[in-house]
Order: sequence, then C-alpha cells, then structure tokens
Amino acid sequence: MSRVETGQGPFVRNAWYAAASSEEVGQGLLARTLLDEPLVLCRTGAGEPVALQDRCAHRFAPLSLGQRCGDEIACPYHGMRYGPDGVCTHVPGQGTVPPQARVRRYPTLERYGLVFVWMGEVGLADAAALVDIAQYGQPGWGLSRGHALFHACLDNILDNLIDPAHTTFVHQRTIGSDAGAQVAVQASLEDEHTIVCGRWVNHAPAVPMVQRFARPGGLVDRWQFYRVRPPCTSWVDFGSLPAGSPHTPQAMDAAPYRVLSYAFLTPQDASHTHYFSFQLRNFAADDAAVTTEFNALYKATFDEDRVLLEAIQREEERAPGTPPVRIASDAGVARLRRLTQALREAEQPPASDQASTVRAISPS
Ligand code: FES
Ligand SMILES: [Fe+2]
Repeated sequence: MSRVETGQGPFVRNAWYAAASSEEVGQGLLARTLLDEPLVLCRTGAGEPVALQDRCAHRFAPLSLGQRCGDEIACPYHGMRYGPDGVCTHVPGQGTVPPQARVRRYPTLERYGLVFVWMGEVGLADAAALVDIAQYGQPGWGLSRGHALFHACLDNILDNLIDPAHTTFVHQRTIGSDAGAQVAVQASLEDEHTIVCGRWVNHAPAVPMVQRFARPGGLVDRWQFYRVRPPCTSWVDFGSLPAGSPHTPQAMDAAPYRVLSYAFLTPQDASHTHYFSFQLRNFAADDAAVTTEFNALYKATFDEDRVLLEAIQREEERAPGTPPVRIASDAGVARLRRLTQALREAEQPPASDQASTVRAISPS
C-alpha cells in the first residue's frame, strides 16, 4: 500500500501554517507545537509577531517558561537572553556571547486575524503563497471564527474538506439534506495548487442554515464547492439561489445566502491538528447576534466532523496500515492525496535545525 493511500509521510514544510489567533499573540509567551516542533510566540513592542524555537541553546529549557525583557526573552534556567531574531544577546556571568548561541527564528505573517508561521526554508517564505481572500474585511461581509484541536491527522481532515458527499449524512442539522444524496460530485484541478470538488443540487428544499437566515419562499438551487490547497488550506463556497435562477458568478455574488468557510489546518504532531476557521457571509454583516449564532452553528458543524474524524483516528491507530476501499465520491480525495504527495517529494529533507547547542561556555 502506498503512502498516498494512507496519508502517511513527512509534513510538508514550505507553507504558511496558522499558529495562533492574533489575540493569542501578545506580550506574554505562548508555547505551541507545530509539525512536532516546539515554538514560542510573542509580539514585539512595535507589534510584530515573533516565532522562535522554544528551546534554549544552552541546556534546552523552554523559553516559553521564561520572561520578557523588552523585546527579548530571558531563559528561565540561567537567564540567557534572545532577541526577536533568535540570536543570544546576553549570557549572565560572562562578557561574550558564543556565536552559536541562537535559536531558530521562523518567519511570521499576520493576516486574517491569524499569525502564520513559515515552517520550511526561510529563503522560500513568500507572503504570496498564502491564499488571497478578496472578501475578507470588505463591507457587506460578516465574519465569524473558531479554533479547535482535533485528535486527527491532517490528511484525514483534508480528506473531509474535499468531500461534499459527506454533508448529506453528517450535517443534516446544518448544511446537508437528503436532496444531495444522489447528486454526483465533480473533482478537478482549479489551478496547479488547488483542487475543487463540488456540485449543484437543484430544485430542492433549502437546507436548515439557508432556511434559518435567508428564508426562501420556495425551492432553491444550492451550490457547494469544496476547495483544498495542500498542504493546509481549505475553503468551502456554499450558497443558495431561488430555483431556476441562472448559475452565473454574478448571480452567486448577489445570492440571498452565500458563505465562504475557510479552514487553516496545522499539525501539532502526526495525530493532532489545530483547526483554525472563519466564515465570511454576504448577509447581516454587522449583526452581532448573527455572528454569535454563526460561531455556535459552525462549531456544532465542525464537531459533527470531529466526532467522526477522531473515531477514525483511533481506529487507524488501533489497526494501522489497513487499506481503505475507494468509491466514486473519493475522486477529490484521490487527487488531493496525489497533490500532497507531490509536494512532499518536491521538498528537500527537512530544513536543518539551525539551533546550536552551547555545551561549553568558556568564561571570559
Ligand atoms: S538552559 Fe537556558 S540559559 Fe541555561
Ligand atoms: Fe463536514
């Protein structure tokens, strides 16, 4: 059985991974493990997010247990201080700083209310690699958001997010309905980085979310297009028009109900994944009550996925290596696994750890 089938394999590193919400990153020290690496996150006095390896070069104490000294971090063990660039600036009790005394600095990018960290080669970090979201922050678009840690591997979560067929069975209370059960989904490459998998379900009763917020008078045509850009980004375009309307981009923009639901997935390790999400809606943009309701509804929707994905994870850990049977609606999953595997193979071995161990510090 190939790694493509099981989703096993090294993490793709050259990508912007969401590490925290903007609110979480402040003057304190936030410890977070990404791709099996411990990081410490904080913000400089000028407001720049900083991500450093959370391991002092001296004897590996976690810097996240230390103290802020202005923009520097003092190690909790022997007080060595590190600047935002990861370079040690001060060693208590001696006048010089060994040149190897540094910890890895990770490039950061703050956008969409999230702090992203580039986990791969520093020289390849490019803000243009982050998905561009034209509607974010625009008038007329409301925003809701959430975060959860799933006990599930990244690959299985991405499978779920390129799989419109599951909504019929898993999300009956929110975005699914029986009307979609027999409508085939189509999967294709939208561009060289992105897979799209979706369908129109026409002349059908509105699903619960549309009924609740748009109150259509009759049957609707609804679309759901799931997009995944491996290794870690997903967005679902979901909306509803009066039945028989033209299915043009203009009509979709002006639809009574359209929600773009983004998910940024960041492995903590091989079996746990941070799930950062937000939704942009084209109605009731400034209605705080609707935002509160959306926060709760999407949490409930993602929890419906989480229950299944965590059960699948437990079973995969109990009986590793069992090959899955593929069915027609897995077309998107198969493409996604191949694209992810191509990214893995394109990468060099994991970037060498730039941190150095300072075992012998000679007194000055
Ligand atoms: S372990 Fe950090 S200064 Fe000693
Ligand atoms: Fe789902």
